[in-house]
Amino acid sequence: MIHSSLKKKFSCCVLAFLLFVVICVWKEKKKGSYYESLELQTKGFQVLRSLGTPAPGSGSPSASSSSAQDPHTNSQDLSNPRGPTKAKPKGTFQVWNKDSSSKNLIPRLQKIWKNYLSMNKYKVSYKGPGPGVKLSAEVLRCRLRDHVNVSMIEATDFPFNTSEWEGYLPEENIRTKAGPWGRCAVVSSAGSLKSSRLGREIDDHDAVMRFNGAPTANFQQDVGTKTTIRLMNSQFVTKDRLFFKDDLYNEGILIVWDPSLYHADIPKWYQNPDYSFFDNYKSYRKLHPDQPFYILRPQMPWELWDIIQEISPEEIQPNPPSSGVLGIIIMLTLCDQVDIYEFLPSKRKTDVCYYHQQFFDKACTMGAYHPLLFEKNMVKHLNQGTDEDIYLFGKATLPGFRSIRC
Ligand SMILES: *[C@@H]1O[C@H](CO)[C@@H](O)[C@H](O)[C@H]1NC(C)=O
Ligand SMILES: *[C@@H]1O[C@H](CO)[C@@H](O)[C@H](O)[C@H]1NC(C)=O
Repeated sequence: MIHSSLKKKFSCCVLAFLLFVVICVWKEKKKGSYYESLELQTKGFQVLRSLGTPAPGSGSPSASSSSAQDPHTNSQDLSNPRGPTKAKPKGTFQVWNKDSSSKNLIPRLQKIWKNYLSMNKYKVSYKGPGPGVKLSAEVLRCRLRDHVNVSMIEATDFPFNTSEWEGYLPEENIRTKAGPWGRCAVVSSAGSLKSSRLGREIDDHDAVMRFNGAPTANFQQDVGTKTTIRLMNSQFVTKDRLFFKDDLYNEGILIVWDPSLYHADIPKWYQNPDYSFFDNYKSYRKLHPDQPFYILRPQMPWELWDIIQEISPEEIQPNPPSSGVLGIIIMLTLCDQVDIYEFLPSKRKTDVCYYHQQFFDKACTMGAYHPLLFEKNMVKHLNQGTDEDIYLFGKATLPGFRSIRC
């Protein structure tokens, strides 16, 4: 009896060993095919993108299944292939091409872009250098620092110095409330944040910027919990019914911006705002007098627009830049380093517009109203992080203006 149980044990061991060997071989094979498929996928991305169609699997189950993995585990897999004979795959990750042009747009978006050019709603008459001036990242950083004046409307600015506005604008300059910070995060509202599991990494920053109605509740794992600054457009402040109801707006510093006509000054803009958000602004200030809430000077978006036009080789949409890139520039003035999440799309790239809504439109990634394509080219040019970080985490890293020398 003892003898037969020993025999059984022995054969069990042999079986287990065989199973182990089989699993090892299978794993190695699988790893190989993972790299192959990665390469195929990225090649396809490039080819299809030049045809103006989405990356393969955008918004399809195959794309979302890869997004279910923890990106950090994934990055470890990529940087430490276990097999000693297996060389690390070359660090080529197909990510946003900084020379993307309107030819990369699908026909519908090309048409919209042309319509905006002929409409010229904001009466843009660009007279600066370019278009298509090639600036090194260093020179571009300095150009942005010195030519985009990030400041807020103050109580001394006409017509905000009149009795109608008395007591409404915050008394203290934003610089006394915001920063200077070390590491900051700018969190886009992109659908590709879904299942990113970036929440902890985002919260680990000294300050976090979010946009419009982007929530954290129910999405903490992917986007974190902290909100230090919330940048909102005037349409949102004017129209969104939840702005006064949802307490997600009560955290941190608020900034609202509204597009003016091209390089209009404050009095001219005040007579003709894009959205008349002033009454809602005042009502909110009455309800929350202690929460800092600023109005961005309307000149700032056009100062930035001029530089984006200068470095872009073709005419960009004559509409103000997106909140996303405005927020990036604001944070660059307040922080030593800015990590930007899912502005340059990761492998999770999708036509789902927002992580908190089920709404599909390619325009959300490629731009229609805003010159988003050219903004992304600029951010890619300025990026000091790796393509791997963009591919896996949608993360671009820019040095803050305080830490550069010009
Ligand atoms: C930025 O704008 C503010 C407000 O008009 C002004 O006081 C300041 O001098 C400007 N800064 C630069 C660098 O132009
Ligand atoms: C508001 O500012 C304008 C322009 O600087 C100035 O002419 C006017 O006197 C100011 N009004 C008040 C009430 O201070």
